[in-house]
Amino acid sequence: MFQEPHRDCDKCPRLRSFLLGLRETHPDYYNAPVPSFGDPEPELLIVGLAPGMHGANRTGRPFTGDWAGDLLYAALEKHNFSKGQYGASIDDGLTLNKAMITNAVRCLPPQNKPVGAEAAACRPFLTDQIASLNSLKVILTLGKISHDNTVRALGLRLKDYPFGHHKVYEIQGDRRIYSSYHCSRYNTNTRRLTEEMFFEVFADIRKFLSL
Ligand code: URA
Repeated sequence: MFQEPHRDCDKCPRLRSFLLGLRETHPDYYNAPVPSFGDPEPELLIVGLAPGMHGANRTGRPFTGDWAGDLLYAALEKHNFSKGQYGASIDDGLTLNKAMITNAVRCLPPQNKPVGAEAAACRPFLTDQIASLNSLKVILTLGKISHDNTVRALGLRLKDYPFGHHKVYEIQGDRRIYSSYHCSRYNTNTRRLTEEMFFEVFADIRKFLSL
């Protein structure tokens, strides 16, 4: 089993002090590194960027409670990667089937922008997680920051695995990386990413997994 960052992880001083401040101003929020969620033996690992302020950082579950989550959990439901009803809260009873969701950076960053040193400090958690998930066949990276962090976490060179929407790369024998534009409110409002484009990536992954 892989290690999640400790609730009081202090590898990133800026993020730690941001969360400590939020524990004062938003005591009802989770305000800690958000642990991965899903099937403990996943074939698909979805890597987001970092918890959103009023989504994962509030609820304590990746992508739960914000716009990006509405689209991601809809995609998972439509492609049979979830069981139960997504209710935008950690106690909605939803479970994932053959899928797990995590973030490249596990703590909420100010303005949703982790700096390079923070991504680097958090990367060993992702490296360890990928290495320990023997059932894993596909990593889906959401957005360029998540993609680049995943490539680095795998010890690969960015120039050999450039980010793009719906790119597919073979890694580690029969494993693959699929990349997608991030399902953020900005990307969907500007129609850089449509629901159809996002769902196509999931449909393709399902086909590859023969599920
Ligand atoms: N919520 C997350 O957990 N991760 C993201 O990348 C966006 C929203």
